[in-house]
Amino acid sequence: MRPGNHTIDEERQGEAVGPRSGNKGGRKLYLESYGCQMNFSDSEIVASILADAGYATTKEEGEADLILLNTCSIRDNAEQRIRHRLQHLKRGKRNNPKLKVGILGCMAERLRDQLLEEEKLVDLVVGPDAYRDLPRLVDEVEGGQKAVNTLLSREETYAEIQPVRLDDKGVTGFISIMRGCDNMCSFCVVPFTRGRERSRDPQSIVSEAHDLFAKGYREVTLLGQNVDSYKWNVDVKGQVKDPEQPIVRFAQLMDLVSDVNPDLRVRFSTSHPKDMTDEVLEVMARKDNLCKYIHLPVQSGHSDVLKRMNRGYTREWYKNRIAAIRRIMPDCAISTDVIAGFCGETLEEHEATLSLMNEVRYEMAYMFKYSERPRTLAERKFEDDVPEEEKGRRLSEIISVQKGHSMERTAAQCGKIYRILVEGPSKKNKEEYQGRNTYNTVVVFSRTDEQPGQYAYVRTTDHTAATLRGESVEEAVAVKEGFVA
Ligand code: 5AD
Ligand code: SF4
Repeated sequence: MRPGNHTIDEERQGEAVGPRSGNKGGRKLYLESYGCQMNFSDSEIVASILADAGYATTKEEGEADLILLNTCSIRDNAEQRIRHRLQHLKRGKRNNPKLKVGILGCMAERLRDQLLEEEKLVDLVVGPDAYRDLPRLVDEVEGGQKAVNTLLSREETYAEIQPVRLDDKGVTGFISIMRGCDNMCSFCVVPFTRGRERSRDPQSIVSEAHDLFAKGYREVTLLGQNVDSYKWNVDVKGQVKDPEQPIVRFAQLMDLVSDVNPDLRVRFSTSHPKDMTDEVLEVMARKDNLCKYIHLPVQSGHSDVLKRMNRGYTREWYKNRIAAIRRIMPDCAISTDVIAGFCGETLEEHEATLSLMNEVRYEMAYMFKYSERPRTLAERKFEDDVPEEEKGRRLSEIISVQKGHSMERTAAQCGKIYRILVEGPSKKNKEEYQGRNTYNTVVVFSRTDEQPGQYAYVRTTDHTAATLRGESVEEAVAVKEGFVA
């Protein structure tokens, strides 16, 4: 899982877990996830719903009776990759006619008939709000029929479903706090694939956090397309629904979750510049276990482009939000998303993005070429007129500017002691551990007595643009010399 703890990674492939108990029918499910963290989190809900219907998850694709791909539509290349995977699976079915293949998530929502009827790539198509219907749909498929449900809902939050945790390390987990998105950014397919925004009952969120802590988890990431617009017990016009109950917005929710235990770290993703309040920043500043890291996608540094993108803020507004973060939490790490070559983007507008990056100096960024998506406002209203090659050139400039800033960030974090949550062996060298500091920077250090799920104190000595390296020190040394919590 990528350390950025954020939205998209089309490179990421599903991780499935070993067989789970209670496997009534002895059938095996292989579940593969693509895209954002929300999808990975949804897959854990799917695993839970299908476990109750007799399916145990397996890590071995070859022993599966049912293969489900939880898919992403955010950019065309994400969909192309999944399409190739489906074609590969279809060929594999020739040797194993009993195998059923289904598609879940955003591509299922977007392309249902095409995948099922025209290209005959799958047996089953289920959209993000229809997972409760999976047992019935899977039954139909087992009976030899094709099955589909892509109904979107205004209420579904899967609030009371206990996810089956698919990340077997058991240290960091996701909690989805809301679903859907009402923002209608003109480039974005999400409102069409995930429907209207709705928030989940705060009690069920807090109890999920308690449950994860009791199981040994030490970090939760609260997930939503726009966490700053989380609201409970208040309608869209701001009216209280139940006067007997408190109103819970994102600031209060973070307060509640951070109270679960001081040793439970809390992160969240994704914030929206137009909705991020000082109140949220003040709660973060007050509590050590609310990690000092904010992902605040800017998309473009020019107000005219932001207007065409329908982002709901200007360059000045965005800079004001950055200033608020710096004022309230001077050391907070900030990362962003940038799109290169949006419709009508002039050279001057592109340079405004570079200049904004130079002003903010993000610790990290996810950077993309604009990819036109069917049905979006941009597709209907604007021409995708920046040539592919020019998009690539602008993206390279953006990446190279960011690389310098990322290097600055890790250099500045060198030579200090950090409290690190140990996540497990380092990816590159099993003799070393890896974890992250509060700023979400990956820290690699030689193995000591600490176990995954415990905190270690690490003095950083070396760095690349993305990673810090260091040596663990005794707690007494950390306390004496001072450390970053
Ligand atoms: N083209 C390129 N990037 C996109 N994103 C969303 N839609 C598109 C698109 N059509 C990026 C945005 C968003 C991130 C999740 O993906 O930067 O913040
Ligand atoms: Fe997540 Fe769907 Fe958006 Fe992809 S398109 S990032 S899966 S919400």
